[in-house]
Amino acid sequence: MNVIITKDYEELSEKAFAILRDVVLKKPDAVLGLATGSTPIGLYQKMVEDNRRGGVSYRTVRAVNLDEYVGLSPENEQSYRRFMRENLFDHIDIDLKNTHIENGVAPDLKEECARYDALLRALPRDLQLLGIGANGHIAFNEPGTPFDSETHVVDLTQNTIEMNARFFEREEDVPRRALTMGLKSIMDAKKVLILAVGENKADAVKGMLDGEISPSLPASVLRLHPDCTLIADEKSAALLK
Ligand code: PGA
Repeated sequence: MNVIITKDYEELSEKAFAILRDVVLKKPDAVLGLATGSTPIGLYQKMVEDNRRGGVSYRTVRAVNLDEYVGLSPENEQSYRRFMRENLFDHIDIDLKNTHIENGVAPDLKEECARYDALLRALPRDLQLLGIGANGHIAFNEPGTPFDSETHVVDLTQNTIEMNARFFEREEDVPRRALTMGLKSIMDAKKVLILAVGENKADAVKGMLDGEISPSLPASVLRLHPDCTLIADEKSAALLK
């Protein structure tokens, strides 16, 4: 794994944008695997500012997102579909028809997972962007998720529910289940870019790089990826040698 340590979030977002920009400039119809959460917001702001200034165009880019809460419709304010529109898609020249995410209100979730797997096979990702959970999860693949997993329904751990409660009015409002790309789905991307910010990610970053490669720390699987880059700010990298 390539490791880049930055002094702060601003520099991390700039470096992440440089990598993403390179992928899209080389291949204007690139498939980008995108992520939600606080971590990528700085990168998305860079994309928006640059696009507004007439920089990189996303007109022919395709986007597939990692995960979505079960039970939240695309219009729901807390849905990841809505997050992507508010933080990125509505402010760049991407065609919404080319943006994909699991349907959290599909009547048959198993069928929805199969549909999404077929979509991922049809749209091989040139770049997969990831954050990391304090427990080492990537997307909603919690500790214990098999490395060969594809899109599946997960019961969120208490830890993840508490972490995500900040986006909701009350903790009880956080959905208990989600649809997520699996670890195999993530590993299938040609290139992976994982971002880590803040001291509460330091244990997970240390475990990912220096611990055992094991489902007990899902992000450790990325050490088996031939082209994975971690960009970590100094706080999240504090425990690295
Ligand atoms: P965060 O979440 O970006 O909001 O810290 C990352 C994650 O849980 O994967």
